[in-house]
Amino acid sequence: MTNWFAAPERVDEWIARGSLATLQGERAVLIFRRDNGFWRVYHVAADMVALSQILSEVCGGHEINGVLTTDLVGRATDLEGVAGIYRERGFSDHNCLIRMSRAIPAQSVEGCTEGVVFASPEDVEEASAFLRRLLDPYTDQIPEEAEIREAAVRRNLLLVRHRKALGGLLLFETVGITSHLRYWYVDDGARNQGIGARLMHRFLSLTQASKRLILWVVRDNHDAIEKYRHYGFQPEALVDRIMIRRDNSGVQTIAELLKDIRPEFDFTTSQDFVADGMLDSYDMVTLVSDLDKAYGISISGVDIVPENFQNIAAIQTLLKKYGKA
Ligand SMILES: CC(C)(COP(=O)(O)OP(=O)(O)OC[C@H]1O[C@@H](n2cnc3c(N)ncnc32)[C@H](O)[C@@H]1OP(=O)(O)O)[C@@H](O)C(=O)NCCC(=O)NCCS
Repeated sequence: MTNWFAAPERVDEWIARGSLATLQGERAVLIFRRDNGFWRVYHVAADMVALSQILSEVCGGHEINGVLTTDLVGRATDLEGVAGIYRERGFSDHNCLIRMSRAIPAQSVEGCTEGVVFASPEDVEEASAFLRRLLDPYTDQIPEEAEIREAAVRRNLLLVRHRKALGGLLLFETVGITSHLRYWYVDDGARNQGIGARLMHRFLSLTQASKRLILWVVRDNHDAIEKYRHYGFQPEALVDRIMIRRDNSGVQTIAELLKDIRPEFDFTTSQDFVADGMLDSYDMVTLVSDLDKAYGISISGVDIVPENFQNIAAIQTLLKKYGKA
């Protein structure tokens, strides 16, 4: 039994980046992948007993600590047993995605695509900050900048500008006869005004040669599900049950969050991240969003000034204001 379905090219990248670790037992292996300051855990086990045993080793003080998540993929009823084992080892349900698909050419969709452009390499940083702001890192698999750049080069990333800023994007991948719609996002303030529709029309016209379109969407995201149904997508039986285990503190440290944003810098040595060129305004937006998610707060606009993000002590003072740290 396994939940490890990674594409070989992704595995090569993760190995090259040093973001994989493994724990080998007699009849099971756990694979850990470092992702935005937490670990995703995958199993390959002979049976439930082997899985339970190896998971108990992780919970018994192995060097992998902090937040752990796992994605259990299959038919909802088939996942109960394995979810129960993770639950016994301290995991709880975080979210659930369903898969939807659309056979082509069941319906063809014609429509306006005005303002939709292919992203260029110059758009990558902005697209990355946009997704980081809107995605939940545990549920959504936030793409690396390298992945976004690759999508831009392959003309798999569509953008729409709205009042000079990025209004929405759609990122997809085509493998053989199947296209996977990975992200379809419109900025919070610009939804329900037809931006998503223009992106979708362009995507559907670009993927006409594919025989099947698939996507994953949060089971409770009724708005998006209705829109997908509108374009002919239907729910499948497959779900992705995301479970999470938090460590005692339950949150990443500020240093860990900063390291995820700019892994190339050592933030513990600088007293002024902005003046030292370690954080720019996009990074600051990302950091605010990460702090909000990690600490369950909502940092107000008036507090988003460089002085509050100058160094770790300044960020701690800011968190104290919100009753954290
Ligand atoms: C989902 C999302 C990208 C849609 O973008 P949007 O700009 O809000 O969507 P639009 O207003 O352009 O509507 C898209 C289509 O749905 C239709 N629609 C709108 N409300 C609808 C409803 N309640 N039921 C069915 N169809 C609906 C629109 O008429 C339009 O269809 P058209 O092409 O025939 O004109 C956007 O709402 C969003 O970013 N949501 C949060 C992120 C998210 O959930 N993404 C998808 C998860 S993977």
